[in-house]
Amino acid sequence: MFDLLVKNAKLSDRNELADIAVSAGRISAIEPAMEAEAANTINADGNFVTPPFIDSHFHLDSALSYGQPRINQSGTLLEGIQLWGELKPTQTVEDFRNRALEFCRWSIARGTLGLRTHVDISDDRLLAVEALLDVRKTMKPYMDIQLVAFPQDGFLRAGQSRTNLLRALDMGVDVVGGIPHFERTMADGAESIRQLCEISADRGLLVDMHCDESDDPMSRHIETLSAETTRLGLEGMVTGSHLTSMHSMDNYYVSKLLPLMAEAQIHVVANPLINITLQARHDTYPKRRGMTRVKEIAEAGINVAFGHDCVMDPWYSFGSHDMLEVASMGLHVAQMTGTRQIQTCYDAITTSAASAMQLGDYGIAPGKQADMVILDCKSPTDAIRLRPARLKVIRKGNIIATTPKADPTVMIGGQSAQVDFVPAGMRSV
Ligand code: FE2
Repeated sequence: MFDLLVKNAKLSDRNELADIAVSAGRISAIEPAMEAEAANTINADGNFVTPPFIDSHFHLDSALSYGQPRINQSGTLLEGIQLWGELKPTQTVEDFRNRALEFCRWSIARGTLGLRTHVDISDDRLLAVEALLDVRKTMKPYMDIQLVAFPQDGFLRAGQSRTNLLRALDMGVDVVGGIPHFERTMADGAESIRQLCEISADRGLLVDMHCDESDDPMSRHIETLSAETTRLGLEGMVTGSHLTSMHSMDNYYVSKLLPLMAEAQIHVVANPLINITLQARHDTYPKRRGMTRVKEIAEAGINVAFGHDCVMDPWYSFGSHDMLEVASMGLHVAQMTGTRQIQTCYDAITTSAASAMQLGDYGIAPGKQADMVILDCKSPTDAIRLRPARLKVIRKGNIIATTPKADPTVMIGGQSAQVDFVPAGMRSV
């Protein structure tokens, strides 16, 4: 007797439909047409059942603050930083907590059950840290949240950052952050990486730095981050977020850099929605796209994920935390329309993101935690194309969110028509 049986699931790794049996919050078996009793049986009706979406780069402390204290009129990074500087001192623990909890409900509705969020530790009061530690605990039954201690104002540049970062880690923040390109000099940037990686080595913590979020081709902190990772034996524990300067680097230099990153088993997180809007603002035409070299990084055997980064905050007025929107933008900006490349973009919001966060219990396989999402479509490609309803969001074998299937009935010219955006010839697949 199983707790849950999901019948007729389309999975990405097999052609025929399969049934997924769940006991005590874990996947017990995956087999075609199982004859089994279960306390709760649901029919996926041949729809695509995916492991949950994972957002490996986000900022929960600023999310949903759109319009406070005013709207970013220019839409630029610099006005965004100025706005955040005005807003931050006015926020209470309750403000941070309430916005984050509201946002987590959006995430769950979208089937995103893993989130790595940076939390700004530049303010000595560490109110956002206090709030987000509480949110991490409150949301644990529904989603996995990792916190990164992020020195937004610079680790060496802002005098109190080292003390605050260590305090945040002592309070229970999971990951060591950084922002080397924002330090006063290239040398300071490199020194900040050395110090932060040593903190990580001392404490056995993962690292995730905002790194080279710049159009400057000489912003090469990812080289130092890779070298320090290897020097300190942190292989597989370190993430370079953004790496937008790689877009503008000389090809010969990149041919040396990629093997260094692969040797250090660096994880890369690109943020397509934010990179395409904030980078290359000084360009006229031709105008750079700004996102890092996702295709080449993946081809070099380096793990690459996509993050949402921002939703309705001082930097970005858009978004509803739909990771399929992120995958779609990443695929388009990187021109990754080949069959395997489409899968790489889908993996960037699922398995590759889980790998960057070291979520070892992730995936639809026997023995794994029973987290999955039934989508109203048949394949990863259609998931990216249609961004369909998350019919059922399942966490540890419990259905934690449901969204009704979209009604395909449309009145066209006074006549009722069925429009589901799937060609007739493909509907039976
Ligand atoms: Fe970020």
